[in-house]
Amino acid sequence: MTTTTTTAAPATWEHWEHRVQTAAHPVAYRLLRAIAARGPVVRVPRVGVVVSDAALAREVLCDTGHFTKTGPGSPSDLWTPVLGPSVLLNMEGPDHAALRRRLSGLFTPGYVTALCTRVLAQPLDALTRRLRAGEQVDLVRVAQICAGAAICAIVGMPAEPGRFGGAHAEASEVTKSVRLWRSGMTGRQVARAREVLGRLTASAVTAYRQGGDETLPGRLRELGLTEQEARGAVGAFLLTGTETLVSFIPRLIALCHDTGRLDRLADPAADPDPVIEEALRITVPSPVMLRSVARAARIGGVPVAPGDRVVVATLLCAQAHGPFDPERPHPPELRRLWFGAGPHFCLGMPLAMAQIRAVLAAALAAGPVAVTARRPARHVLIPGYARLNLELRSAS
Ligand code: HEM
Repeated sequence: MTTTTTTAAPATWEHWEHRVQTAAHPVAYRLLRAIAARGPVVRVPRVGVVVSDAALAREVLCDTGHFTKTGPGSPSDLWTPVLGPSVLLNMEGPDHAALRRRLSGLFTPGYVTALCTRVLAQPLDALTRRLRAGEQVDLVRVAQICAGAAICAIVGMPAEPGRFGGAHAEASEVTKSVRLWRSGMTGRQVARAREVLGRLTASAVTAYRQGGDETLPGRLRELGLTEQEARGAVGAFLLTGTETLVSFIPRLIALCHDTGRLDRLADPAADPDPVIEEALRITVPSPVMLRSVARAARIGGVPVAPGDRVVVATLLCAQAHGPFDPERPHPPELRRLWFGAGPHFCLGMPLAMAQIRAVLAAALAAGPVAVTARRPARHVLIPGYARLNLELRSAS
């Protein structure tokens, strides 16, 4: 059944965010909220120890002596069979720190701005032009095309618009096979994910061998990564940096529309960052983070033992701060928790923020716009819209 709804019957942002969450995870979302109501740290059979308090979540993420991404039930169960053993997401300790150090010069502000300008120029010009011409534009499709353009840049393929849709579809096929509570993939899913990522990252190997700082794999070589490490890093970027943005960008625009902020943001003097950060807090495109207990510890007084799985419910930590309000500062324990905390803090945050700002600016550059139809996506890993139509107000 389709659930497209027009703005004829205005609904609040809370209504839409609830619909987006429950369309993606009809059972898990309600279950998580019920768990959080029982306390900040709750042991749930077959799920793990669920943490829904921001300060405790931060403690877990920063304490790599007790909580790891490499033990049973952790992300390494998911990604090691697909990407190999050394791809940031499934590393800990000195090896992880050494690789992060070498990558620290990668997404500098100057580099991400130049990258976005280069790869997003064509899709974003098209967005502004189509809106100005009075067309209804599906922002989800635009976010997918932009993600595809970024993927082409990440793997070092020439940025040809005809390729963007396919590149996004391939990368998202891998993340689609992941489920919230299951920490591994089936044998068939692993084989398919390896095939798809193998194809995408093969371009990265070619670009790496060519070297130079024209392509991202070439830059990884200049930063001192081996070919294997560069291929792993590219795989990690594809997995972490694609669906998060495709989920978030349309939800940001929807939230701004539903709270009457789109016009205010169009003012060239307006700073979009507090609104973007607050929208990230409300939507949390990385709703949970998983860890495995390496050594016996306590989380907020609850004892945990080696092998236990810890589910850091970032979404619930963030929701506890209350309704959407970009004017209210985030407390220190919550600050950017949606990008993680500690040694695994999102490496791609500068690139993510640059892409978000660029799409928002291109949509607002068309003139006064409004969301005219939307449909939440059903049964997806990262909640989001399947369609979100934007239109110039004067044309509707
Ligand atoms: C709104 C968009 C994004 C969100 C919300 C997000 C969120 C996160 C979070 C929560 C983590 C930490 C996971 C954990 O500790 O278990 C993470 C890690 C990571 N992210 Fe992002 N991310 C976003 C976009 C991107 C982009 C665009 C890229 C790169 C192209 C990227 C690359 C990475 C990498 C490589 C890691 C692993 C870092 C490590 O393990 O050392 N992310 N991200």
